[in-house]
Amino acid sequence: MSDPGGLKELQQGFEAAIAAADSEAALEEVRVRALGKKGEISQLMKGLGKLPPEERKARGAALNRLKGEIGALLGRRKQELRDAALEERLKTERVDVTLPARPEAQGAIHPVSHVWEEVVEIFADLGFSVAEGPHIETDWYNFEALNIPPEHPARQEHDTFYFHKREDGSRRVLRTHTSPVQIRAMETRPLPIRVIAPGRTFRCDSDQTHTPMFHQVEALVLDESTHMGHLKWTLEEFCKAFFETDNVKMRFRASHFPFTEPSMEVDINCSWQGGQVKVGEGDDWLEILGSGMVHPNVIRAGGHDPDKVQGFAFGIGIDRLAMLKYGIPDLRAFFESDLRWLRHYGFRALDVPTLAGGLSA
Ligand code: DAH
Repeated sequence: MSDPGGLKELQQGFEAAIAAADSEAALEEVRVRALGKKGEISQLMKGLGKLPPEERKARGAALNRLKGEIGALLGRRKQELRDAALEERLKTERVDVTLPARPEAQGAIHPVSHVWEEVVEIFADLGFSVAEGPHIETDWYNFEALNIPPEHPARQEHDTFYFHKREDGSRRVLRTHTSPVQIRAMETRPLPIRVIAPGRTFRCDSDQTHTPMFHQVEALVLDESTHMGHLKWTLEEFCKAFFETDNVKMRFRASHFPFTEPSMEVDINCSWQGGQVKVGEGDDWLEILGSGMVHPNVIRAGGHDPDKVQGFAFGIGIDRLAMLKYGIPDLRAFFESDLRWLRHYGFRALDVPTLAGGLSA
């Protein structure tokens, strides 16, 4: 092929320079030398005007082609250099995600958080999903919809934290239990409902066995045919999975809650040898939860027809579960943020409880 004006040589020179450029900066220099305002190819293009018309056309086409090819080569090389740089970074910046996030960190996962996750894991396996509600509740959700009218004696037992009265006379409360989430779940979820609601709860009470903030997990199952046998089975499955033993014995005692009828409290067997409580051994009983069949008034308050749907509910104290399972003696230490306590009773950040991998592993 003919090469009028030595363009071939120019092209080869640039091709070699592009291939040899080992950084984006070096490549940019080549680009400026070839295609920059004062670059060689740009200069040649500017010179086209001085050529006689019959030469100008062929020369112009050749220069345009050269410009296009060099431009494409520059682009490709730039991408190559970027890829190589990224590759290099990935090699040197590799992280082992199983290492502690901050090796120097002194903290650990709080037993309450860990037990919370254990409970969610167990109920997820049984087909429950997690529901939530606000910490600040209206009187309706916290009491009235749960069949606790204004003068009901159960209100006294709840040691409620009240907010200031509003202009319309209403008062918000810090929720005293997770039961209001039952109503919220009934209002927003289609049947059949199978939810648990773990969360913080608040009562104006503080002594050896009570803290003003504590944790509960609520459960609600509602459909057309759920009965007490299902409740009993669910609780037995939960206890076996949670305490990681098939030996837990359960005792159902008739009780009273305004929001369930009939109501039962559930005890599990335990021993108290050496001042340490062991679940699933011995002949002593320990109360762990309240439960029952959802009261018709509660079903109605949740917007459903108690002649058509029925179900069960229960509420468990998460902090109490943690104390029992991990032999933690003092409830108040849970909320003192003492790092020595946390280091002793806490869990490593990556010990996520799974049924397959072991809950307390
Ligand atoms: N809300 C009760 C409490 O805080 C616990 C409870 C008892 C919840 C019975 C329930 C239930 O859902 O059926 O003491």
